[in-house]
Amino acid sequence: MDKMKLHTPTLTDANIARLRKMFPGCVTETRDDNGAVQMAVDFDQLRQEFSDHIVEGPQERYHLNWPGKREALLMANAPISKTLRPAREDSVNFDTTQNLFIEGDNLDALKLLQETYLGKVKMIYIDPPYNTGNDFVYRDDFAENTEEFFRRSNQKDESGNRLIANAKSNGRFHSDWLGMVYPRLRLARNLLSDDGVIIASIDENEITNLRRLFDEVFGEGNLLFQITLLCNPKGRSQDKYVANCHEYLVGYSKQSLPKGAINIPKEDDEIAASYKLKDKRGRYREIELRNTHREYGKYNRENLYYPFYVSDQGRVSIDSQQGFEKIFPNWDDGFEGCWTWGVDKTRQQLDEIVTRKVKGSWKIYRKNYAESEDGESTKQVKSIWTEKEFHTEKGQAAFNTLFDSKDKIFQSPKSVATIKQLLLMGSKKDSIVMDFFAGSGTTGHAVMDQNAGDGESRKFILIQIAQETATDSKARETGFSNIAEISKERIRRAGVKILEGECHPAWNKDVGFRVLKIDTSNMIDVYYAPDQTNQKGLFDAVDNIKPDRRPEDLLFQVLVDWGVDLTLPIRCEMVRGKTVFFVDENALIACFDTDITEDMVKDLAKYQPLRVVFRDTGFVSDAVKINVEQIFRQLSPTTDVKSI
Ligand SMILES: C[S@@+](CC[C@H](N)C(=O)[O-])C[C@H]1O[C@@H](n2cnc3c(N)ncnc32)[C@H](O)[C@@H]1O
Repeated sequence: MDKMKLHTPTLTDANIARLRKMFPGCVTETRDDNGAVQMAVDFDQLRQEFSDHIVEGPQERYHLNWPGKREALLMANAPISKTLRPAREDSVNFDTTQNLFIEGDNLDALKLLQETYLGKVKMIYIDPPYNTGNDFVYRDDFAENTEEFFRRSNQKDESGNRLIANAKSNGRFHSDWLGMVYPRLRLARNLLSDDGVIIASIDENEITNLRRLFDEVFGEGNLLFQITLLCNPKGRSQDKYVANCHEYLVGYSKQSLPKGAINIPKEDDEIAASYKLKDKRGRYREIELRNTHREYGKYNRENLYYPFYVSDQGRVSIDSQQGFEKIFPNWDDGFEGCWTWGVDKTRQQLDEIVTRKVKGSWKIYRKNYAESEDGESTKQVKSIWTEKEFHTEKGQAAFNTLFDSKDKIFQSPKSVATIKQLLLMGSKKDSIVMDFFAGSGTTGHAVMDQNAGDGESRKFILIQIAQETATDSKARETGFSNIAEISKERIRRAGVKILEGECHPAWNKDVGFRVLKIDTSNMIDVYYAPDQTNQKGLFDAVDNIKPDRRPEDLLFQVLVDWGVDLTLPIRCEMVRGKTVFFVDENALIACFDTDITEDMVKDLAKYQPLRVVFRDTGFVSDAVKINVEQIFRQLSPTTDVKSI
């Protein structure tokens, strides 16, 4: 029986596999330190593939670098042997909800989610610490200690003398921030779907580095927007030169998206005000077909200069007709302009062409419909957002109302309206929306509120570290020992409030969330390093599961390892006196009890599960253990059978 591996994948292997797809000849086989055969990159061969385009040694090149970048990359690729432990007591509607709240370091969380959510997340929103050095309730200063920076970047000689002058702008305040964000972004990119969007909030401190970092991870050509958000109209008077009153929202995709991909729906009153005409296809407005910019005309767009033929009654044709008047896109002063549609498009869509006599001359218009062919009426957002609802003050007010407090239990949460607007741009129907710097949980609040408004069923995954609140903070005074406690309470309260308000009839009313806490592996360490064990360790390993771990903990480790959706419904039932978990009925059946008999194995095989897992030491005898695979082969041949 195969054993589950119970650690996250080594991402280097995935990278080699990707390279192999493009350049099969550049991946070869070598032996690792234990003599086992492994895949490896043949750099000599790869070099040949790019022989004209290689940068060697100290040659000048355009790239982003900082001391610690290599370590950051290693950190992103290194596997971990941690697990996610369910916390029913902290959750809301644990058994039915589609939302997740993961408590722990987001680097671990992103690794643990790699198998399950690879390419499945439609939108990621992050609001990482801005690196301001201010005293927020969360650690927000990734500035590197100066001495450390000098040492690592070789700016001090062995006797400790400075080699070159260093200024604040040199990067010593940025290296750790970059090192923190970089591995997380790389892992996040894997989770993003091909049509997915990642959006980050950032202010002037790190906007330059954030853009360069995103350029590197997502590709410069995949920048979707850099929006300026007026978040604090009064401005920060403590700023040295100008009072900053804005921050940025930066959006990237994984690959080039079609025009209009992040358009937002038009409001009904907006449609009614601008689209006053109606025909059988829907509401429309008339737009002049002649290009109204003099930069374009017959002189540089000759193909767009052609005649329409219009009858006395205004009937229009693209072909010459007896008695019809010839109309060119000429201006009143005689300038020979051009149309905005080519002749082929006009011919195909002639029923959308309208003629109107203005001051004695025929003018040509086209119908511009409010809704596209697929029934959507959308518009582009603008690059500057100034609306009141987007101000941080509104975010603080919404948070304070939920906690019935004037004190800032959490400082400067984002405005819910800002995140809802981003949801309209980056998510749809039942998209998964992730925020791995969840803070007070605004993204969870916004997802529920947006769903309540439009009846869709977006799901959220929030990740927040249980970072201690400062001893003298309002948060601590109110009873919150760490930020994750604040986030969970905020989403609980937001859910109750949203349900009390007006809800779309089609909404599934999912205001729940399943809490999973990152912890050390459920397995005793020897499970991972058998060569490092001693005699005592070997005896301990007879049962390789830590004594404080519950069966449900083991179940979630298996779900993570197998890449099974972590929000699937779980039913727990007694079969022959043993506890059995049915995940989404037969997606996975798990039994971690001991003294499992052959009859019990046969009973479970009758459910024909896609996957089944037992405890390695859970069988009543070695004979039963040996027979398990045989039993499944006979009764349910497609079942994947494993043990932990
Ligand atoms: C700027 S706040 C996010 C605020 C959030 N957008 C809101 O509206 O409430 C950043 C959050 O990231 C959290 N954080 C920082 N490092 C983290 C890590 N390694 N893993 C998970 N969360 C982290 C901090 O505790 C903090 O709550």
